[in-house]
Amino acid sequence: MNRLKDTMKIGNVEVNGRIIMPPMGTYKCDADGFVTDEVIEYYKKRAKNPHIGLIITEHTYIAQRGKAKANQMSIADDSKIPGLKKLVAAIHEEDTKVFAQLNFGGSASPREVTGSEPLAPSAVILPTTPLMGDNIPPKEMEKEEIAEVVQKFVEAARRAKKIGYDGIEIHSAHAYLLNQFYSSLTNKRIDEYGGNLENRLRIHKEVLRAVRAEVGPDYPISVRLGGYDEMEGGNTLADAVAAAKILASEGIELLSLTGGMCRYIRKGHNEPGYFSDMSEAIRKTVDVPVLLTGGVKTLEDAQKLIDEDVADFIGVGRPLLANADWMM
Ligand SMILES: Cc1cc2nc3c(=O)[nH]c(=O)nc-3n(C[C@H](O)[C@H](O)[C@H](O)COP(=O)(O)O)c2cc1C
Repeated sequence: MNRLKDTMKIGNVEVNGRIIMPPMGTYKCDADGFVTDEVIEYYKKRAKNPHIGLIITEHTYIAQRGKAKANQMSIADDSKIPGLKKLVAAIHEEDTKVFAQLNFGGSASPREVTGSEPLAPSAVILPTTPLMGDNIPPKEMEKEEIAEVVQKFVEAARRAKKIGYDGIEIHSAHAYLLNQFYSSLTNKRIDEYGGNLENRLRIHKEVLRAVRAEVGPDYPISVRLGGYDEMEGGNTLADAVAAAKILASEGIELLSLTGGMCRYIRKGHNEPGYFSDMSEAIRKTVDVPVLLTGGVKTLEDAQKLIDEDVADFIGVGRPLLANADWMM
């Protein structure tokens, strides 16, 4: 029988159990995205929780123009390395693994936060409720700008490995830039980055290939996929399964499943594992371990989902945000 405390592998990294703390923005860094003592304290407390084998830290901006919120964590330049090293060391001291979530906000990066015009696949205001980003259309990216963002992911991944994170997660969910490319609601391009699914995932493939070339074959890469949008004309469960196949074929070590333009909540659903239709369908289709997050409140909830074979790992977010000693 599969148990929550089974030792699990993500690539070559051993994780002590199946429960993962998913990324949650704390916005407790300083104005320039440097880690503060408060941030370290927050993560250390959660790393002490014996149920948690891996913490994927909050979405961390890889370039100023992709910053989404004030006080967000940054990995955008080498000056951030010492602070992030302290953070990683504090989590490792508790025998817990840690991945960095790398993000570029795209049209969800407001002008007043970044000081520049937001970049996006197309000049479309986000369909999220509440609105993310500005209420004016972003700039449609030139191909050179796409290549620059790919390079920013590479540089951030290089820093993450140097800092000592056990792996990285590429953020392609919750209406941020890579999700904007993946969703037809926000990607209206008529070049090779828009149109069919292969094209809408072209930037993902470019990021994954370039990052892999940088970090080498043994460093775990997770993708957080906002699989479906739950909106008319947006991505559906079938798109999520097809996207997972394409991403898996790029050689990733973990697929973390959540919502796209609907973000991390699913209207009308509050049951434990409310994205389990997606995780179950994807798990049946690809070989990559699958992380399911959303609505899990107790260890029993998590065990039930594992017993139902709908995921390899279970994410517990808000309960841990509210209480570092969750289920202790
Ligand atoms: C305050 C808050 C901040 C979040 N920040 C992020 C983030 O930085 N990156 C991300 O991928 N998801 C983020 N999420 C989504 C969570 O990772 C998770 O998917 C969501 O909370 C649903 O899981 P839960 O029901 O266990 O809380 C955030 C959620 C909350 C509540």
